[in-house]
Amino acid sequence: MSLLIKNIKSLIQVEENPKIWVAGENMSKLNTIENAFLLMDGKLITDFGKMVDCPVSADKVIDAKGKMVFPSYCDSHTHLVYAGSREIEYGDKIRGLSYEEIAKRGGGILNSSKLLHETSEDSLYEQSMKRINEIISLGTGAVEIKSGYGLNVEDELKMLRVIKRIRENSAITVKANFLGAHSIPAEYKNKQSEYVDLVISEMLPLVANEELADFIDVFCDKGFFTVEETDKILLAGMKYGLRAKIHANELDYSGGIQVGVKYNALSVDHLEYTGDEEIACLLNSETMPTLLPGAAFFLGMVDPPVRKMIDAGLPIALASDYNPGSSPSGDMKFIMSLGCIKLRMLPEEVINATTINTAYAMGLSETHGSIARGKIANVFITKEIPSYEFMPYAYGSNLVDTVILNGEVQ
Ligand code: NIG
Ligand code: FE
Repeated sequence: MSLLIKNIKSLIQVEENPKIWVAGENMSKLNTIENAFLLMDGKLITDFGKMVDCPVSADKVIDAKGKMVFPSYCDSHTHLVYAGSREIEYGDKIRGLSYEEIAKRGGGILNSSKLLHETSEDSLYEQSMKRINEIISLGTGAVEIKSGYGLNVEDELKMLRVIKRIRENSAITVKANFLGAHSIPAEYKNKQSEYVDLVISEMLPLVANEELADFIDVFCDKGFFTVEETDKILLAGMKYGLRAKIHANELDYSGGIQVGVKYNALSVDHLEYTGDEEIACLLNSETMPTLLPGAAFFLGMVDPPVRKMIDAGLPIALASDYNPGSSPSGDMKFIMSLGCIKLRMLPEEVINATTINTAYAMGLSETHGSIARGKIANVFITKEIPSYEFMPYAYGSNLVDTVILNGEVQ
């Protein structure tokens, strides 16, 4: 079935010659076509151009007068499979307790882990699908989802099976990341190395055997997993063909960026603590520096030195980190706004950072993240808006009018 969108006020992030990512000064360049058409056939984008060259017919035609068309957001870092919520900790945070202090009291990740243990696989799936449907309606077309609230063999597998079910039952593109090393479960307190062994020797082989993960993650940071432990886990993951994609430098200069780059991680994420050494290390790599401004915003933490990173020539991706503890939202448009307001990125930079660069950060830049012939037809039509800058600027409005995934209106 062919689907034609005509009279598009502006077609955003169009590529004649697709790139794998955009970096440095190219981050502030955005290719658009005014008064455009977009043609999709089956699941793919087949053509686009100026209205003067618009095909006369298609199986279905949408008139987008006054509206813009964007490639769907790619959200390359989420923990959206979780049980319940943690608004109870919100009060503690407001009263001044830090993320680490809440974690030390047995709250935080361990709190979600306890809830997840008590939740059936079916209920976890139902709860997670609500979040998936919400992010689809907000314009996200591809999402990476992590395990990491199971923290034992059975519950980590439960989470990953839920992620698999989401992939099989939703139109959104899904990548799974095995994050057994998210936190030390209570029963392994003071026995951290035994837990690392459990992740490597028991969880990993089962995850690989059932083909439940595309990537492997570790929370490499102060108070969580050390560089040495991260090294061991990433090496083990690599043997099973899982590429690294890790949490690093959220709470300190943890060495996480360096160990990620050592294993050719697809991305290193958070990066609030990024200095000259870390920037130099990233510059010689194929690793996408990924910032999660929702978490720094929600926890009131320091912001990463994004201008310095872009000026040095790095690419930057922005993802939501959707999770119950540090960023309970998967709204990528709001993430763009935070990129502009908090990180002082330009509108063009945040659009690149939430589309093509996040597509790279989840191994999808050949098929997602821009409007290019042959790519998957994941796009959204906006409401009537004056300019693309209006998207990050109008930070509280939902401006998505119509969502199209795999060439089908949702
Ligand atoms: O990316 N930093 C580690 N993990 C998550 C938070 C998970 C949670 O608090 O539930 C994050 O911020
Ligand atoms: Fe995270």
